[in-house]
Amino acid sequence: MRRLHPSASADTTLDDAGLLDGYRLPEGRSLRVNFITSLDGMATVDGVSEGLGSSGDRRVFRVLRALADVVLVGHGTAAAEGYRPVTADSPVGRIRASIGRPPTLPIAVVSRQASLDPGSALVTAAVSPTVLVTCAAADTGRRAALADAGVIVLVCGDDDVDLPLALDRLAELGHEQVLCEGGPTLFHAALTAGVVDELDLSLAPALVGGGETPLLRAALPDMAVLGLRQVLEEDGVLFTRYGVRRSLLD
Ligand SMILES: NC(=O)c1ccc[n+]([C@@H]2O[C@H](COP(=O)([O-])OP(=O)(O)OC[C@H]3O[C@@H](n4cnc5c(N)ncnc54)[C@H](OP(=O)(O)O)[C@@H]3O)[C@@H](O)[C@H]2O)c1
Repeated sequence: MRRLHPSASADTTLDDAGLLDGYRLPEGRSLRVNFITSLDGMATVDGVSEGLGSSGDRRVFRVLRALADVVLVGHGTAAAEGYRPVTADSPVGRIRASIGRPPTLPIAVVSRQASLDPGSALVTAAVSPTVLVTCAAADTGRRAALADAGVIVLVCGDDDVDLPLALDRLAELGHEQVLCEGGPTLFHAALTAGVVDELDLSLAPALVGGGETPLLRAALPDMAVLGLRQVLEEDGVLFTRYGVRRSLLD
């Protein structure tokens, strides 16, 4: 993998330590969002993101998880992609241990309806307790059953999940640096709520068409304006880091 921006030069090949440095964030609270899309902005092939992936993308995915305090994900993605807990002996766990971080990190699933399956690995095999981010409108029986099964249930908002409140509650639990892995519904809500600090977008050199799962399905209330921070490249895949500014006037 090589760096194209900033400061591209002949000698810019990134080893693991360089890649970690390339994605490290300053201390303090942040929400970064990671996606891979095709060049036409599609986030899936046949319903999952795997078809867009590459070895470089998997490396970046692992590094972002290694640097995060918690993974925030919508229930649709957790279910479609078969999310599992991060274990100490996984590649992410090993990178985390190598940089002096707790080897496991929790997964926080956002679900208005508290849809997290009590029989899923995220509940039955969690190493760091899985977090459910939901709201008061969710079925109380489901919430109680998940709490009984060891899930940390955060009720944030009445009829809908209040994402700024959810991020406050996660920070109170010590999870300040939040990595959001989507999907498009959660990303739209986070942009609308104005809580996204960074978009890490991998661009696969492919065209998918169709529009089944675009990065954003609906218009945003206000256009988000992004500032380019970094571009890496491997095998024709571009790995971008964009800062999210609140508006053109910021
Ligand atoms: N290419 C990539 O990098 C990438 C990344 C992520 C996902 N994906 C793909 O995207 C697809 C899933 O898309 P999606 O838009 O359905 O994903 P999603 O945002 O993960 O899931 C939507 C569901 O999550 C819950 N949710 C999301 N945002 C919420 C909010 N603000 N408040 C309350 N609940 C919220 C709701 O669950 P309840 O219905 O339970 O209330 C909602 O129905 C999958 O095919 C996945 O493979 C691709």
